[in-house]
Amino acid sequence: MTTGAPIPHDSAALHVTGQARYTDDIPLPRDALHLCFGLATVAHGAIVAMDLSAVRAAPGVVAVLAAPDLPGRCDTAPSAHDEPLLADGVVHYLGQPVFLVLADSHLAARRAAQRGVVAYDERPAILTVEDALAAGSHFEGGPVVWSRGDAAAAIAAAPRMVEGRLELGGQEHFYLEGQAAAALPQDDGGMLVHSSTQHPTEIQHKVAEALGLPMHAVRVEVRRMGGGFGGKESQGNPLAVACAVAARLTGRPCKMRYDRDDDMTITGKRHDFRIDYRAGVDAEGRVLGIEFRHYIRCGWSLDLSPAVADRAMLHADNAYFLPHVRIESHRLRTNMQSATAFRGFGGPQGVAGIERVMDHIAHALGRDPLAVRGVNFYAAAGGEGGAGGQPAPAGSRTSGAPADAPRSISGKMKPEGFIGAGPGRVTPYGQVVEDFILHDLVARLAERADYAGRRAAIAAWNARSPILKRGIALTPVKFGISFTLSHLNQAGALVHVYQDGSIALNHGGTEMGQGLFRKVAQVAAAEFGVDAGLVRITATDTGKVPNTSATAASSGSDLNGMAAQAACAEIRSRMAAHLAALHQVAPETVVFADGRVRVGAEDLAFAEAATLCWQGRVSLSATGFYRTPGLRWDRARGEGRPFFYFAYGAAVSEVVIDTLTGENRILRADILHDCGASLNPAIDIGQIEGGYVQGAGWLTTEELVWDGKGRLRTHAPSTYKIPVMADRPGVFNVTLWDGPNRAETIYRSKAVGEPPFMLGISALMALSDAVAACGDGSVYPALDAPATAERVLMAVRRVQAGGAADA
Ligand code: MTE
Ligand code: MOS
Repeated sequence: MTTGAPIPHDSAALHVTGQARYTDDIPLPRDALHLCFGLATVAHGAIVAMDLSAVRAAPGVVAVLAAPDLPGRCDTAPSAHDEPLLADGVVHYLGQPVFLVLADSHLAARRAAQRGVVAYDERPAILTVEDALAAGSHFEGGPVVWSRGDAAAAIAAAPRMVEGRLELGGQEHFYLEGQAAAALPQDDGGMLVHSSTQHPTEIQHKVAEALGLPMHAVRVEVRRMGGGFGGKESQGNPLAVACAVAARLTGRPCKMRYDRDDDMTITGKRHDFRIDYRAGVDAEGRVLGIEFRHYIRCGWSLDLSPAVADRAMLHADNAYFLPHVRIESHRLRTNMQSATAFRGFGGPQGVAGIERVMDHIAHALGRDPLAVRGVNFYAAAGGEGGAGGQPAPAGSRTSGAPADAPRSISGKMKPEGFIGAGPGRVTPYGQVVEDFILHDLVARLAERADYAGRRAAIAAWNARSPILKRGIALTPVKFGISFTLSHLNQAGALVHVYQDGSIALNHGGTEMGQGLFRKVAQVAAAEFGVDAGLVRITATDTGKVPNTSATAASSGSDLNGMAAQAACAEIRSRMAAHLAALHQVAPETVVFADGRVRVGAEDLAFAEAATLCWQGRVSLSATGFYRTPGLRWDRARGEGRPFFYFAYGAAVSEVVIDTLTGENRILRADILHDCGASLNPAIDIGQIEGGYVQGAGWLTTEELVWDGKGRLRTHAPSTYKIPVMADRPGVFNVTLWDGPNRAETIYRSKAVGEPPFMLGISALMALSDAVAACGDGSVYPALDAPATAERVLMAVRRVQAGGAADA
């Protein structure tokens, strides 16, 4: 069995030796041109004059284009048609592409782009949540509200109430390979595009649209990305469209890559959130009613914001049964980069909100935060159904809300019959949590990590340590797997078996470092009973598998693994039928295993079997297709079964802070995470470690700062601090949960790409715990994120002052 084997990433050796070829490394013909955008220097304003003569006169420049020079609007938006390639009349953020330089080298283009002189009639820029609310600057016509029961009444009637606010910063993707694309004009009028994208079909679509070509005339190829993290779902569109338009105009191959500072200035990031909450609880900390308000800075265009904001709402419960709940979501249009997909896609913000509430409740009641979490958990699998636990019809993640999405949505998440005192099994949106394993998983983790013992030891240590304080927290995650735009939950694959028994595999998924290609190749190898090395992994190519979804929502292996399995099964059954006929046995008795094919008494090498089938004129090529079953989602009502299943995990983080400087570090992290029956434990553990560290980075050191003019001041690694090796927890124990997926996924595995990101929330809660230890316990630290050294220090001062003063 090749699945379940911890074999290395197929490109591991190429990655570490620098030989892996990325888009910018693809050799181009000598006459290739290099492109660079000239960027807006104000956050909002009408372009009143543009003098590009000095740009045109600069050395190496071949052409300079502004909006009127384009063949049309050349829209680059994923769905809403609200992003012209170059600003047409008005600029909406500082950093928006205004003109395009074509030059004979990357450096020449970049230097020339600095010489543009553009005059603006500046307009007031909407930068903050407050600005946006005051101006009524909402996307979708107003806030989206989903509710179940009567939260306000339940809060009013509850014995205790906590309320507060959590601010969560955005996050730069910081993929190591920046955005890049190249376009090569073909002799038949078509275009070949290389792009560092998670969504080749969308690149194909946007390029075809810009050039006025049918989709069949544009072929997009992606061998790999040097990281995407959601930042390459839609943000690669402008580069590919710019290259294609320039290539069409000049007849020469064109390439574009953003330098790091341009990349950070131009492209969208994780959405920052302000979350206001109010919860009514009983004496044990059980939530009786809860209200959330999400205020989201979406930036200047719609991009994927509706879907991201929806997913935040869909994860506002995380692991907890919320009988009466109301969530109000403000998708605010601001004059900033258009915030986009980022690992977790709104889920992390939703989860952080409720985890903060759990922590706050525990502090208010003087209870252990883990005990408070425990009383609020959904009922265990097979447990009491709460009120009205009938399963919802079988349901996903939206990437790219339809352009015609309702303008304002206010829905009842579920009929009244689903309300009742916990423990319940029904989410606010009506999906039954059928396999809630967190009771067991958290108990096992707490025991392995000695949560209780260490908590007591930390309290004792803190009592002796006046300057350094430690903190510990355990947080769980439950993450819904599927695109919430149900039609995206489909995938295709193309498999060839050659006459020598070697196998070529292609599918619609893209490789961004997450190990998808390796996992799907393991599936193909398992289907044919051969060694994974026999399967050739090939670049994603819109000419081989059409109409693909973005590799996103963690669903890459779920979807493409199933599609590849279907293709392999088709070829295998053709081979079995032919070989069975040759040897006069029943086709069902033909066995493919250990690189051999056993047909009755015959024992053939797989290569011999392939040769026999070829000689027998059997087709050894097949496509496979998969669509996730049972999804049903009514976005307007906020009700249905959007997710095929949930992935679970939990983490314990221990931190130490310096109360004089706010400096802090993660001393130890223990994780128990559910990948179902792992397709490849080595890769899955890598995803979990990386996810945790990236999640902790988001909440601790990664800070985005815009100044009052809307200029992003943190646009390089000199000012934007991602975790490095030294920031990894000193003790880092990652274990896989051993149960298979209950849902019928590929070999009963579970998606792993995004869920572990949310385990990083335990680091923020542990910092909060450490800060709380600085005072007499009367003040809740209310630590915002990122909890940089400055924020930790300010919170320490606040707690030490007994809440009287803000340092
Ligand atoms: N891991 C690496 N190394 N690089 C990445 O860019 N992207 C993450 C996650 N893990 C990413 C990664 C994101 S945002 C998603 S949605 C999934 O991988 C996508 O891949 P999958 O669906 O195959 O898990
Ligand atoms: Mo991941 S944010 O779904 O690309």
